[in-house]
Amino acid sequence: MTDRKPDTNLVHGGRRPEWRGRIVNPPVHRASTILFDTVAELRATAPEFGVPYYGLHGTPTTWALAEALTELEPGAAGTMLYSTGLAAVTAALLTVLSPGDELLVTDTVYGPTRRFCDGFLKRFGVVTRYYDPMIGGAIAELIGEHTRAILLESPGSNTMEVQDVPAICAAASAAGVATLIDNTWATPFFFPAIAAGVDLSILAATKYVGGHADVMLGSVTANAAWYPKLERTSWDLGHAVSPDDAWLGSRGLRTMAVRLRQHEASALKVAEWLKGRPEVARVLHPALPDCPGHEFWQRDFKGASGLFSFVFRGGDDAARVRFIDGLALFGIGWSWGGYESLAVPHDPQPLRTATGWEAEGPLVRLHIGLEDPDDLIADLEAGLRRYAAGP
Ligand SMILES: Cc1ncc(COP(=O)(O)O)c(C=O)c1O
Repeated sequence: MTDRKPDTNLVHGGRRPEWRGRIVNPPVHRASTILFDTVAELRATAPEFGVPYYGLHGTPTTWALAEALTELEPGAAGTMLYSTGLAAVTAALLTVLSPGDELLVTDTVYGPTRRFCDGFLKRFGVVTRYYDPMIGGAIAELIGEHTRAILLESPGSNTMEVQDVPAICAAASAAGVATLIDNTWATPFFFPAIAAGVDLSILAATKYVGGHADVMLGSVTANAAWYPKLERTSWDLGHAVSPDDAWLGSRGLRTMAVRLRQHEASALKVAEWLKGRPEVARVLHPALPDCPGHEFWQRDFKGASGLFSFVFRGGDDAARVRFIDGLALFGIGWSWGGYESLAVPHDPQPLRTATGWEAEGPLVRLHIGLEDPDDLIADLEAGLRRYAAGP
């Protein structure tokens, strides 16, 4: 119910009594075959959301999660689930594209998405052109005769540029071009993307929806214009998620609001502390003025999650490795959005083709987990001393 507040939807969304009985949570329904009473019933039934038909088309376990995600996006018609966030990205792109089409993609897109565009989509006959994430309404000048879709990711992976989503969507819609956003960082809780004009809103639910670093999951939520095609394409591609993973996604989702607010408060505390340190040249956090597009974050977002980056003032990779390797509370590894803190090095330049990257020193991406931020700051402070001390 979209007239309720997001916190309430997170708790009540998708928990239909017919899916859960008297139990609080819809249980794990394991199913491939669904049995019909008669041949006539089998012939008269078609797959659709909420109708038991075949395992591929869902069970109450998956419908509950999909419906809860839909209810977080005012203006959305439905949600499809995938086994990873990357599968959600690729299914959304294949929903809107055909051979001969052109796709515009933000230059700061998640690396494996870029790889899919430059490899698979190229073989499929789709041309990808990358654009400056800060382009705003001037994207209209890049839209050509064959442009069918624009992929946004806001903030951008690792370098955190916040895009002018409403301006890009207005230009796209005027030209009849579909818009897709990777909304993993904010989630619809902090940025309801469909209401901002986006057609398909993508989540790596592996991150904040799951929230515990123990499940791979993706979702695409679409408006009424695109949902039927998204559903058809996903079934044609054979996408389905395991009921255990959907159940873990629902379990995580119920507490996402409180987790996100804690990630937000702790990450801001750490980011502001880093900003005051002489070893740090820039903190790339959408809620801080150093971040390109900070004004769009202020205008459009209801909050900030726990992922951000900072740039050292000078130094080299060896100093960065000394900083990261010695951290006691930050894990070293891919992904983010779990309850635990992480730190990884990232070098933006090789992944950019439309824009450059100039920096005062190496970059580190931090995910601020649910530890006490004062302990995280003490750990980072020791790291900065290692960084400055030399080998
Ligand atoms: C912005 C973004 N989108 C998509 C993904 C892919 O999600 P998954 O790891 O679930 O495939 C990631 C993973 O790190 C990501 O950071």
